[in-house]
Amino acid sequence: MNKPIRNNTLLGASARAGLSTAQKTLEAKWFYDHAGSALFEEITFLPEYYPTRTETKILQDNIATISRLFPDGAALVELGSGASTKTRLLLDGVDQIGGYVPLDISGEFLLETATILAEDFPSIPVHPVVADFMEPMTFTPKTQDMPKVAFFPGSTLGNLESDAAVDLMARVSHWPNVKGFLLGVDLVKAVDRLIAAYDDAAGVTAAFNLNLLHRLNREAGATIDVSAFLHEARWNARTSRIEMHLVAQRATRFFVDGKEFSMRFGESIHTESSHKYTFERIEQMAERSGWTAKEVFVDECQDFAVVYLEPAI
Ligand code: AVJ
Repeated sequence: MNKPIRNNTLLGASARAGLSTAQKTLEAKWFYDHAGSALFEEITFLPEYYPTRTETKILQDNIATISRLFPDGAALVELGSGASTKTRLLLDGVDQIGGYVPLDISGEFLLETATILAEDFPSIPVHPVVADFMEPMTFTPKTQDMPKVAFFPGSTLGNLESDAAVDLMARVSHWPNVKGFLLGVDLVKAVDRLIAAYDDAAGVTAAFNLNLLHRLNREAGATIDVSAFLHEARWNARTSRIEMHLVAQRATRFFVDGKEFSMRFGESIHTESSHKYTFERIEQMAERSGWTAKEVFVDECQDFAVVYLEPAI
């Protein structure tokens, strides 16, 4: 028997819509199929990709102070949990944590990591939720009343446009009994370092970006000639963000979700934005979304920040 084909209608419809606009786009959330999640894991170990190891070190170095900020019996609610290396640091170092709620769009990956974590931390109940953190959040009866600390590491917030980021932060501030928000954000720095972090020498980020096209071919019946595209990382100074694009190296045509698309030589598909912040900007976003910054933790080079926010009263 042949391997059944998967038909991901949400992916197909989203791609079809994104490719129909003047600047073609694909939503970054679709990067994270099984192959893409594994490639992202690989990115986090690259010498050029400083965010993961820097944030991990910030959490390690400040775990005692962070621990004192957590309320007793806190449920740690992680947005987009991924491989959860940083989560382990918190579950190990913060005794007050009374539950862990990992939330991820990739169900397969989520259940794998949730199972392993539940085994490694037998005293902490794990309540995984397969969900898109952009959708309204519903808590289970068990977690509904628990004091909550949201955990959003990795500067994943930076993938959102500025209004959407503030919107998400505001929604988290309205969660039942939310007491804190531990948020990791990448900081503005020299452009050459930013570009290198998103266009590494080994080509892993290029493979991560191009996997999106392979995924469309695999799961949405697309007919894209992936060899016609090259990965590019661009700094957009006006919006203070790195943009990833897939640039057509020749004119090319393909079908996605039953619609034909054509691209000119040099035309790009914008696949991801990764916003880089200043301290002023972070405080402004917190203020606009009902939070106040209680503590800011940084590394010695000020490459990355972990902020602890509390609901503004
Ligand atoms: C996990 C979304 C924060 O924007 O730095 C890494 C994803 N993209 N390399 C980031 C990513 C290219 C990453 N986030």
